[in-house]
Amino acid sequence: MSGGRDMGGDAREDGAGEGAPSAPGSSGASGGADSGAGVGAGTEGAAGAGGNGAAGAGVAAGAGVPAAGVAAGPTADTVTVEARPEVRSLAELEQRAAAGRNGAVYGQDSLITCDRLVRIFTADGVEVQALQGLDLLVGKGELMALVGASGSGKSTLLNILAGLDVPTAGAASVGGYDLLAMDAAARLRYRREVVGFVWQQTARNLLPYLTAAQNVVLPMQLAGRSGLRAKRQRSARAGELLDMLGVGYCRDRRPGQMSGGEQQRAAIAVALANNPSVILADEPTGELDSATGEQVFASFRTANEELGTTVVVVTHDHAVSGAVQRTVAIRDGRTASEVVRRTEVDEHGQESVVAREYATVDRAGRLQIPRDYTEALDIRSRVLLELEPDHIGVWPDRPEE
Ligand SMILES: Nc1ncnc2c1ncn2[C@@H]1O[C@H](COP(=O)(O)OP(=O)(O)OP(=O)(O)O)[C@@H](O)[C@H]1O
Ligand SMILES: [Mg+2]
Repeated sequence: MSGGRDMGGDAREDGAGEGAPSAPGSSGASGGADSGAGVGAGTEGAAGAGGNGAAGAGVAAGAGVPAAGVAAGPTADTVTVEARPEVRSLAELEQRAAAGRNGAVYGQDSLITCDRLVRIFTADGVEVQALQGLDLLVGKGELMALVGASGSGKSTLLNILAGLDVPTAGAASVGGYDLLAMDAAARLRYRREVVGFVWQQTARNLLPYLTAAQNVVLPMQLAGRSGLRAKRQRSARAGELLDMLGVGYCRDRRPGQMSGGEQQRAAIAVALANNPSVILADEPTGELDSATGEQVFASFRTANEELGTTVVVVTHDHAVSGAVQRTVAIRDGRTASEVVRRTEVDEHGQESVVAREYATVDRAGRLQIPRDYTEALDIRSRVLLELEPDHIGVWPDRPEE
């Protein structure tokens, strides 16, 4: 959230179109399109409350059927709807709703698609809903971080994406593999060829009795051909990968003869051995000091830039989450918000990183309001919403004075 507060008036691209959902971090940005400002304005007087009876009804309809809410909710005094000629017949709305339900459309350009993913664990007769309808799209070639409180579901999600666990409901696919429908053979192929995994515990990533190079060769052996030529190629590739990640000098050392950071970088080489589309890492720098953690993260960046590998890192490390293009926050088993960073050049040629925090709107139109916002305005079970031309106002439900 801190990244969002110093962004200043980044209105050129982010203003009108994204004003409504970009609540959390954009309070420093320009004017009234922010929900922060919207809320402030709405609490000023009776005008906000007066309009809200009707608006509230519209929202209630909108929550179930987002597309229809726009048409059904507004009353004659809402400018927006009058200015929206595209929403007309019932047939048209039905068509829109059908298109929205079509899973094939959602995420069709993404490498990773999670669609309303649910994972329920049952332990001693008690159900834990680790993932509660999580939506996530990750594009090919992205380097992104997942953050969230302990128990929010990060490792559960990563294990599903790694093909190690199967969701209870929903849909998930990676590189065209349907993670719910794979048979044992496809699952094995998927884990060998499509994903690489790096664990937090350095000891879990490498076999202790093999050298770094032998560890990198092993997954290639399991997936590959036999013969002397293939063997030489594997050995050469292992050396290249270790060199690329800055640990070529460790190739003939066993893990016990390497530092934690060196082991993690060798582990990235192992994960890359079969040239996977995506590398998943669960707190890979969690056991390291910050300087070593940075070196390890630099290796992920190298893999991403040099090989085009998509990288998804779960992390508590702010140095890592602050250095990626996109950081998605998970709360209570759902994606709640995301910070997107991009480099901009001002009129003096000065480069700076501009970060914006967005609240996630899921496929059912649900939005999580950040806890500090709900607490600041004492928002409990419901709010009043009002659709404006370029934003949505959110008002706490106060008893009539
Ligand atoms: N195998 C399991 N059996 C029962 N409950 C589980 C299992 N794995 C995870 N959980 C529960 O699911 C929830 C999410 O766990 P998860 O490990 O995904 O959290 P996390 O975000 O990775 O947390 P941390 O930051 O502490 O690693 C927790 O409430 C956890 O207790
Ligand atoms: Mg975890």
